[in-house]
Amino acid sequence: MTHPNLTIVDHPLVQHKLALMRDVRTPSQDFRRLLREISLLLTYEAARDLPLADQRITTPLTDMDAPMLAGADPVVVSILRAGNGLLDGVLDVIPTAKVGFVGLYRDEATLKPVQYYCKLPPEMRGRLVIAVDPMLATGNSSAAAVSLLKEAGASDICLICLLAAPEGVECMAREHPDVRIVTASLDSHLNEKGYIVPGLGDAGDRIFGTV
Ligand code: URA
Repeated sequence: MTHPNLTIVDHPLVQHKLALMRDVRTPSQDFRRLLREISLLLTYEAARDLPLADQRITTPLTDMDAPMLAGADPVVVSILRAGNGLLDGVLDVIPTAKVGFVGLYRDEATLKPVQYYCKLPPEMRGRLVIAVDPMLATGNSSAAAVSLLKEAGASDICLICLLAAPEGVECMAREHPDVRIVTASLDSHLNEKGYIVPGLGDAGDRIFGTV
């Protein structure tokens, strides 16, 4: 099963930066910078349908009706902790976005995601909500985070992830077929430890240097 709303951004700049990030020799400071740059480029795709309305402005030469962003500011929600590596890139291109955070851990007995933190902007209805998590692996935590966003009223949700595994895409297609996914790559598979292959390792460790 593929996800009806999956977009793979195959732009050469994205693919080049992703290859640098996958390389095991790339140090944390470069990894962080590249992730921020790629997240900015993925946001460009995620924000493609934002509404515009003409506003009267004056250029140095004449008056004109210029299309500008209309409607409520988007919301970006970081799925902790690795989502924070994508957050600043989104805010670089949508500086007026409101910011939320969702923290989930995996219960070792049930293997189900458990919420330990959730702080969202008060009004989620009628806004584009961009959830960010670099790795869509099993999809369990992303799907749980998206359920929290829906419970808070969000209905226009886009998940930005750097890498996706087929298993994660299928999980999202099953549980949230209405949610768009924007990624730089659909990788081959998950290994027995739940890592994306070929992947780039543990995204949080590589961002924060906790390897
Ligand atoms: N989370 C990661 O950080 N890396 C993977 O490969 C899978 C999940």
